[in-house]
Amino acid sequence: MSTPKANQPALTIPPAVQHARIHGLGSYRPERVVSNAEICENIDSSDEWIQQRTGIIERRFAAPDESIIDMSEAASLQAMKQAGVTADDIDFILFATISHPYQTPAAAPLLAIRLGITSPGALDLSAACAGYCYGISMANDMVRSGSAKYVLVVGVEKLSDYVDPHDRGSAFIFADGAGAAVVGPSDFPGIGPTLYGSDGDKWDNIVQKDSWLNLREAIENPESGLTPRWPYIEMKGQSVFRWAVFSIAPIAKKTLEASGVTPDQLDAFVPHQANMRISDAMVKAMKLPEDVPVARDIATTGNTSAASVPLAMHRMLQAGDAPSGGLALQIGFGAGLAYAAQVVVMP
Ligand code: UT7
Repeated sequence: MSTPKANQPALTIPPAVQHARIHGLGSYRPERVVSNAEICENIDSSDEWIQQRTGIIERRFAAPDESIIDMSEAASLQAMKQAGVTADDIDFILFATISHPYQTPAAAPLLAIRLGITSPGALDLSAACAGYCYGISMANDMVRSGSAKYVLVVGVEKLSDYVDPHDRGSAFIFADGAGAAVVGPSDFPGIGPTLYGSDGDKWDNIVQKDSWLNLREAIENPESGLTPRWPYIEMKGQSVFRWAVFSIAPIAKKTLEASGVTPDQLDAFVPHQANMRISDAMVKAMKLPEDVPVARDIATTGNTSAASVPLAMHRMLQAGDAPSGGLALQIGFGAGLAYAAQVVVMP
């Protein structure tokens, strides 16, 4: 084991802070409402089937010229307002998305410019539907270790650009929207331990159909026999469904135990809005008492991947379905397959 060299100075490190919490939450839903009937213009399906199998009645799609930066700007401004912080207070932006249309650079620095945040640490997180909950975990650790005072965590998607409207297996489920949270120092523990993990064996369960390299080969080498096509996201729905119900529901239970919270002490359960039937199965597996409010934002918002947890929690708080200051279990899961879950005190 190596030890510090003799006579060298000990490194100066920032003073740690004991606790962190979410100080403010914001959300943005695009204006355009897309009905199941409209989705069924492109796939062999029905309003009845979509409602029964997913709980989705309608979803929102962003306008063609509306970007993930536009959507996250609106959500972030709300979160910053509730947190009582200005652009000058934000040290770091963690930007969770899988729908930024540039390989590089990241979206986070662009959002910083929009919000007038000068020179923050800024990077994107690629953990799909678990991205926001990973972001909350990382922001918590950054604030507590003293490496940042206020961290802006964004979950945003414009999946209408990446889902094939003719794909019967996914066109009806995914949608667009943004959520944001400001995490900062606190007098009490506001973010419990995060349980996270991944299963790379199921990497192909939710996947961009073709790699960019295949697309390049198809364009540059017509003799390759490859068809140049937009690499839409493809999902093995049944397999993901089973994984969510059998592997992720127990994680929800363990997350409560890690925080020292029993199901009846929860003021809200906010699972990733993947499918209403998955949420119901988790509620059952956790033996969640009937009076604990469960997020059901998917009905009118669809599955917005990284944005779904903050969108759903914000709606519950705004509607008075969950109390500010109360305890919520939030859990994100999806492509990777990856998951992250924690109990938080709601702002
Ligand atoms: O956010 C990331 C994580 N994602 C998820 O958690 C999604 C998890 N998966 C799901 O939510 C579900 O698997 C879906 C909603 C995607 C699909 O529902 P399902 O109950 O798993 O459908 P299935 O694939 O098992 O198909 C059942 C039946 C089949 O017909 P038969 O063979 O029973 O006659 C399909 O052909 O439903 C049929 N079907 C459809 N019917 C109408 C499949 N897709 C459709 C459709 N419209 N779009």
